[in-house]
Amino acid sequence: MRRVKTFARGTERRKVSVQGVEIELEVNEHVFPPSANGSFYAESVRVNAAETVIDIGTGSGVLAIFAAKAGAVVSATDLDPAAVEVAERNAARNGVSVEFRRGALFAGLDKKFDVILANLPNEIIHRSYLDEVGEQLAHTFDGGERGNEHVLDLLQAAKGHMHGRSRLYLPVHTLTDYHETLRQAVNDYSARLVAVAQLPAKEFVEEHIDFYLRLNEAGVIRIFAQGGAWYTNGYVFELSLAAPV
Ligand SMILES: C[S@@+](CC[C@H](N)C(=O)[O-])C[C@H]1O[C@@H](n2cnc3c(N)ncnc32)[C@H](O)[C@@H]1O
Repeated sequence: MRRVKTFARGTERRKVSVQGVEIELEVNEHVFPPSANGSFYAESVRVNAAETVIDIGTGSGVLAIFAAKAGAVVSATDLDPAAVEVAERNAARNGVSVEFRRGALFAGLDKKFDVILANLPNEIIHRSYLDEVGEQLAHTFDGGERGNEHVLDLLQAAKGHMHGRSRLYLPVHTLTDYHETLRQAVNDYSARLVAVAQLPAKEFVEEHIDFYLRLNEAGVIRIFAQGGAWYTNGYVFELSLAAPV
């Protein structure tokens, strides 16, 4: 089975910094570790002390721990039981309290949050790469046929968990059908762009470049070459239910 470069070999300790806050994490070969895309997202969100926050797709727990260290009251969910176990240990290691739940999206939590964080899978990944890495890892980063499957589900579900001042931080990545994500986001929410980045494409893009160039030419995704490497664009939008003023 193929090893994914960003994943740890066995259990490893990593120190990461989010907005200047130091976090020590245990990661292993089954759990999505902090990545370049994740770091761009983490640096772009705003969390204030005493706010209620949910981190959906918590992985190693990095965003939940960051929010708890900022003084927020934090819940976190993940589909993957291995992620929830590691994230629980990581919260304890960093001396913060987070309510973790295993399950999809809000995992049955029936309340409204001030802030919704959700660095969910957000890429179209070539089928042969998913097969090579195996099902257990694939579901931690597979965004489905159009790349935005989980993000579109989130846009549908989040409205019921927001009040008039809630903020949902939406990651939009051009290795997905990002036009559709943006269409649904601006249709249902008031959207404010808070960050834009050029992100290096992962190994599977170069390995299956003909597939991705066809999607690029069809206008579904956007990739571009710079200095001999392939890049995508990442955006973070702050969404609210309130009408723009
Ligand atoms: C790209 S990783 C991000 C991990 C972490 N939040 C970070 O920023 O490093 C996505 C995580 O979302 C989880 N996930 C995928 N689909 C989900 C869903 N529908 N609901 C909850 N978690 C999901 C995966 O298991 C994985 O841990």
